[in-house]
This record gives sequence, structure tokens and C-alpha cells, in this order.
Amino acid sequence: MIRETALVTGGAGFIGSELTAQLAAAGHRVVVLDSLVTGRRENLDGLPADRVWLVVGDVRDRDAVTSVLRDVSIVFHLACVNLRRAFVAPREANDVNATATLDLLIAARAAGVARFVHVSSSEVYGTACAAAMSEDHPTRPTTTYGASKLAGEAYARAFFATHSFPTVVVRPFNSFGPRAHHEGTSGEVVPRFLLRALAGRELVVFGDGQQTRDFTYVTDTARGILLAGHIQAAAGRTVNIGTGRETSVRMLAEHVAAAADRPDVAVVHADARPGDVSRQCADTTLAGRLLGFTPEVTLEQGLRRLVEWYRVRGVAAGQLLEDEVLRSWETSGGTEAGSVAVRS
Ligand SMILES: NC(=O)c1ccc[n+]([C@@H]2O[C@H](COP(=O)([O-])OP(=O)(O)OC[C@H]3O[C@@H](n4cnc5c(N)ncnc54)[C@H](O)[C@@H]3O)[C@@H](O)[C@H]2O)c1
Repeated sequence: MIRETALVTGGAGFIGSELTAQLAAAGHRVVVLDSLVTGRRENLDGLPADRVWLVVGDVRDRDAVTSVLRDVSIVFHLACVNLRRAFVAPREANDVNATATLDLLIAARAAGVARFVHVSSSEVYGTACAAAMSEDHPTRPTTTYGASKLAGEAYARAFFATHSFPTVVVRPFNSFGPRAHHEGTSGEVVPRFLLRALAGRELVVFGDGQQTRDFTYVTDTARGILLAGHIQAAAGRTVNIGTGRETSVRMLAEHVAAAADRPDVAVVHADARPGDVSRQCADTTLAGRLLGFTPEVTLEQGLRRLVEWYRVRGVAAGQLLEDEVLRSWETSGGTEAGSVAVRS
């Protein structure tokens, strides 16, 4: 593999920091552009300082983008406004997820970047019509987040079709693992369930729990993104990154309880989140064929690794849960404690 300089937007975030670590481990230099709105400096702790640089800046700032693109040969674009924040800030989501993607494509092409990986999301599909969704599955996002991510990926594909600019679109499915968010509007189901189980608190399922997801461990997600950046044949393609295993949220609760060694933990239900996708699972045939990608970590293994990661950090689950907001899509992003009507 040729050693190169990569730009990772959103590289101080959950997936971005794992991708940055993998790039640095492979000997690449990495410039991280991150506003730290949801990312954290500490996510990059321990990475080689002579190979990883954090530039605190906004992807909407064209001057900042032009300056960080100097000497960059590959861009991994992950900076985004997340799903729950997009509920209350759809314009901001569009500005970051769609418009800033267009601006970044323009700037990257002008700077002579050789490869652009746009990290999209399985949310662009909406609810599955068939069990496993291939990349040809209709894209019918049910959230403004999904719509804005779809706009971003459409720009990336158009730059390939119109300008032969070598873009790749990857669509990760739900990722979990170390540094995943449990807090505020960023809170994801796996760390929230796990911390609640570890703290002996009830797991709150929004809706009937029959909604399914393809839970992918973050080291696998990041490896898939990295491969998409380095396999020549991926230029111009759109590819899923997932495991192909469909798990309901109710089943996830059981796996989490087992991993946390709290089989007695209660599971309660609350009203569904609006626009929640009811079924999602990746068809990973193309990822296997095009990228040679196969997931290495199962859901059960990943959950046990995450339990261990929390244990080594030494912060009590109950303390971390002070940042949790239960109905996190109904706040403007503050950390006020959420109240929620639950039923068993
Ligand atoms: N986590 C998942 O399950 C999942 C699934 C599918 C796709 N994705 C995609 O993966 C990417 C990373 O998501 P994540 O889960 O790591 O979320 P994250 O919030 O941890 O990462 C996003 C990063 O972008 C930064 N950021 C946000 N707005 C910015 C701006 N205007 N300028 C500069 N930086 C900004 C944040 O500070 C953060 O570090 C996103 O593009 C997301 O759509 C995530």
C-alpha cells in the first residue's frame, strides 16, 4: 500500500477516530478536520503525533477546507449532523450533510485529490422491502437526516459521472463499539442499552422492539471504509458495509443483558420514534466481491469487547448515564434529563 496523506472529516468522532487509528497504523499521515461538536479530542489520544494532526474547524468553512486539503491525496468524508439532531435542525443537517459535501467535492477536485470516500448511511434506504438490502434497493429515507445523506451521496456519484472524479460512496449500517455515543442527541441504542444494563436499570425500547438493524462492530465498519478508499475498482461505486445479520431491537436487549451479565434486567417499551425504520439489514455481496470485505466481529463478541472497554475506563455506568437523554430527538441538543412514559 502506498503511504499517503488522508483527510478525515469528522475524524474525532466515533467511527472517524477508529478510521484515523487504522490509517495511522497502516503508516498513512492523517489530517483530521473536526468541529468537535459531537467528536472529542480524547478520541485521538494515543495516536502517533507525527502522523495524526487534528485541525479544529468546520466543513462548512471553505477557507478551512481549502487549507487542510493541501498535500492530501485521499479524503474520507464523515463529518455530519446526526439523525436525532436533524429532527430539530433539518436546515443545519442539510448545510453540513449535503451542501458542505458539495463544497468539499468541489474543493477536493480543485486540489487534485485522487480519491474521495463519501461515508453515507443505511438510513438512505428507509425501511427494507426485502430482508437484505442490496445497493440497488430503492432509496426512500424516512428522516431528514437520511434525506440529507442521500443528497450528499448523489453529489459524490454525480462528480464521478460528470467529471470522472474518483468518488466512492459507502453505506455503513448501525455501528457500535468503543467511543460510541450514549449521550445527548448523539446517543445510540447499543451503548445506551449496555450502560443501563451495567447500571442495573431498565432498558427502554422505543416502539414494539420488532424493528431490526444490522449491528456492525466499529473496527469492521472502519476497515470497510478504508478498503473503499484503497481498492481501485471501487471508484464510482456505492457499497454497503454491514454484517448481513438482522437483529431486532428486542433481541439486542437480550444480547446486551447477557453481555453485561445482567439477565434479570427489565425491558420496558415507550412510544416509537417518529420516522423509525422498521427493517434494515445489509446485503454485503458487493462489499465482499469488490472490496474483499468480510466482517470479523460478531454482535456477541462486540458487546463483550464493549463491556470490557467500559470496565477498563473505570467510570461507573451510572455516572456516564447522567449525560443520557431518553427521548433524545425531542431536545435541541442539551443535556437535560429526559422523561418518558414507559410500559412493560
Ligand atoms: N454510527 C453509525 O451507526 C453510523 C451508521 C451509518 C453511517 N454513519 C455515518 O458515519 C459518519 C460518522 O458518524 P459517527 O457515528 O462516527 O458520528 P459522530 O457524531 O461521532 O461523528 C461525526 C463527527 O463529525 C464532526 N462534525 C459534525 N459537524 C461538523 C462540521 N460542521 N464540521 C466539522 N466536523 C463536524 C463531529 O464533531 C464528529 O466528530 C457519519 O457520516 C454518519 O452519517 C454512522
